Amino acid sequence: MQNALVMNVLQVAEQAAIASAAWRGTGDKVSADQAATTAMREAFNDIDFSGRIVIGEGERDEAPMLFIGEEVGRGGEELDIAVDPLEGTNLCAYNQPNSICAIAIAPRGALLYAPDTYMWKVAAATDCGGRLHVDNTPAENVQAVADALGKPVSEVNVCILKRDRHEELIQAVHDAGARVRLIYDGDVHASIATTVPGTGIDLYMGSGGAPEAVLACTGLKAIGGFFMGRLDFDIDPHGVEKRERAEKMDTVDLDAPLTMDILVRSDDAAFLACGVTDGEMLDGVAFGDGGATTTFSIVMNASDNTVRFIKTTYRGEGTISF
Ligand code: FBP
Repeated sequence: MQNALVMNVLQVAEQAAIASAAWRGTGDKVSADQAATTAMREAFNDIDFSGRIVIGEGERDEAPMLFIGEEVGRGGEELDIAVDPLEGTNLCAYNQPNSICAIAIAPRGALLYAPDTYMWKVAAATDCGGRLHVDNTPAENVQAVADALGKPVSEVNVCILKRDRHEELIQAVHDAGARVRLIYDGDVHASIATTVPGTGIDLYMGSGGAPEAVLACTGLKAIGGFFMGRLDFDIDPHGVEKRERAEKMDTVDLDAPLTMDILVRSDDAAFLACGVTDGEMLDGVAFGDGGATTTFSIVMNASDNTVRFIKTTYRGEGTISF
């Protein structure tokens, strides 16, 4: 993915983060999400490319903006786009860590139209020599990561969403001797954070949104990390109808383990995220004196296998990235 285009898309994530950051701590997650979505759509429409939303705010009849299938951009290179305009809406609304605006881009046809249901996920910085798998026991995955990182299991940190459905998983990780980092929301961040030293996350496991998986997988694929998932309609209150709808779309085997090459069918993809609230991986938007606004982003680009941390200051008229 050309760096010039990726940098243009970065501004989209930055604009969404600035817009939603204005709602930090207000308790109003709906307005925070709307602000991010509106800003993201406007910024996409300023770019010379032909983007098609594959993962967005919902189906055409339920989402006014960034709906699945919506075309954005002023025309040009054809790309697939996955967005989570504001991941961790509650985190933003209550000023908790690690709320981000996230975007994945890939060549047209490369991103999976993931059904809007749950997925059991495993994410890490490496595939541990092929030893990680969604069907493994938590103990097997923890041991694989410990071996790959060259540290004892007792020092492996496993990030898990705090949900009742994860009680067994949490117990299994503790029984294996590893440590658990519970989070309230935001498993795109948690999956990506496994690759970023200093975040204190070595492995992410558990069930979260399937659309979010495509975003996380793009970043991990771009830099040679590991992601695998399995759709889980059973824990979804509307799982039966959603499964029927997904069967009609016939895009993927709904029961198979979903590898990185199924979720993202290209090696030329990029993942971008801009921090909204402060976190271990990214700082949140900083509104400075005199109208200057500073954002902190991560860009993972498969074309040159790079991870860039970008600090951008908007000074009203001009923009400085460094
Ligand atoms: P929002 O961004 O919509 O607030 O959701 C965040 C999130 O925590 C995701 O990161 C995660 O995949 C999903 O929700 C988990 O869903 P649920 O809250 O239903 O367990």
